[in-house]
Amino acid sequence: MSKLVVVSNRLPLMPEKKKTASRSELVGGLVSALLSALDVSGGGIWFGWSGKTGKTPESAPSESWKLNRNRIVGFHLTKQEVDAYYNGFCNRALWPLLHSFQGRVRISRAENECYAKVNTRFAELLLPFLDPDDSVWVNDYHLFHMGRELRRMGYAGLIGFFLHVPFPSYDIWQILPNPKKFLAGIFDYDLVGFHTRTYRDNYVYTCQRLCGASWDGATLKVEGRKQRVGVFPIGVDPRMFARPDGQKRRPGSLRDTGIRRIILGVDRLDYTKGIPHRIQAFEALLKNYPQYRGQVSLVQICAPSRTRVPEYIEQQQMVESLVGHVNGAYAEHNWVPIRYLYRTYPHERLRVFYRESDVGLVTPLRDGLNLVAKEFIAAQDPEDPGVLVLSRFAGAAEELTDAVLVNPYLLEDAAEGIHTALSMTREERVARHKNLFEIVSRRSVDWWFKTFLENLAAARR
Ligand code: G6P
Repeated sequence: MSKLVVVSNRLPLMPEKKKTASRSELVGGLVSALLSALDVSGGGIWFGWSGKTGKTPESAPSESWKLNRNRIVGFHLTKQEVDAYYNGFCNRALWPLLHSFQGRVRISRAENECYAKVNTRFAELLLPFLDPDDSVWVNDYHLFHMGRELRRMGYAGLIGFFLHVPFPSYDIWQILPNPKKFLAGIFDYDLVGFHTRTYRDNYVYTCQRLCGASWDGATLKVEGRKQRVGVFPIGVDPRMFARPDGQKRRPGSLRDTGIRRIILGVDRLDYTKGIPHRIQAFEALLKNYPQYRGQVSLVQICAPSRTRVPEYIEQQQMVESLVGHVNGAYAEHNWVPIRYLYRTYPHERLRVFYRESDVGLVTPLRDGLNLVAKEFIAAQDPEDPGVLVLSRFAGAAEELTDAVLVNPYLLEDAAEGIHTALSMTREERVARHKNLFEIVSRRSVDWWFKTFLENLAAARR
């Protein structure tokens, strides 16, 4: 019987003593989306790195948990591999490159080789679990070449790939050590999916220029292979962010702190999220629109991320020093301009924070999609909604055109956008939210995985 096999670098839950888990213990929209995809397919496998390190490479995955009818299967990497593959090539070369931060790209040949080796290991360790009729769904930039490796090992079933981050322009792709070979390593996937038309067009153009591919609007023909390419913006489950019903105790509210009007930012602490620019835009708001002093606070939640990578350590220091600077310059005895929270919150807390905020400030310098934008919309009260201020450089801006769209590089523009949001009439807020909510509901996470899997099935050669 055929099954679905989801592959990602990171697993939905990390190994603990117990070998079973219930769904309610898992957090995150993407996790529940992919688990729903597995459930709908009748039970399958989620395969990836266990998050653990071992002294030597494993010859078979050592971790396995049961989750409903699914199995989560994980294996260790060596410490050297975590440094070279994950911290190194994935997070210091590919991550900045794919987000077009070319000045931050750090590439080494050794790390590139380790990336290739780890992609091969993923394929080798997964292969014994595969049957010919299975569908394999590989996720994200850590595993661009796993499909090619599976083919090399003789697997002939369907393999799809979804890129959760941007695909950059042709010239940025040239920064890679061997751009043509690296690109050709993606051609064995039957389907490749992107969040936006822009990323798809960048990919198609790069394939045409570098490898002489031909394109008919849905399928690439390249090096004797056919590959379907599509646009599938990921979504949220709007029910997860709707008003919590029947909850006995209301989880802590931001209003409990006496803040009058709230601007909310929620991000992983990553330089692509533009948090320093955002703090400076908020400072420009206080400077250019003094009526907001003492009235409005920015609540900035930063989830710790990739804390062993130097660029992330540096970013944290920069954010904290800017928060200190703005609070030092503007705070009053009874008002703090920026409330900075360096920690993660479960989604039950976040949906309360989203709902009670006047403005959702989502201003990345570049972002594959940005689910926070959609979560914020899903959590609003339709009768009295908050306003989304969204960067033009988030993939979500291609869909959420009724948000207040800003250029985060231009601080005055972002400050003006926040002012527009804070001073918007209720009538306009309701009208914009109605349109945005319609898109968020229609393009839900269920739509995302079902459409991707339908396209993968249709790609069968
Ligand atoms: C982005 C990537 C994901 C990644 C996540 C967290 O959303 O697209 O693939 O899992 O960041 O990053 P981490 O390095 O902690 O897995």
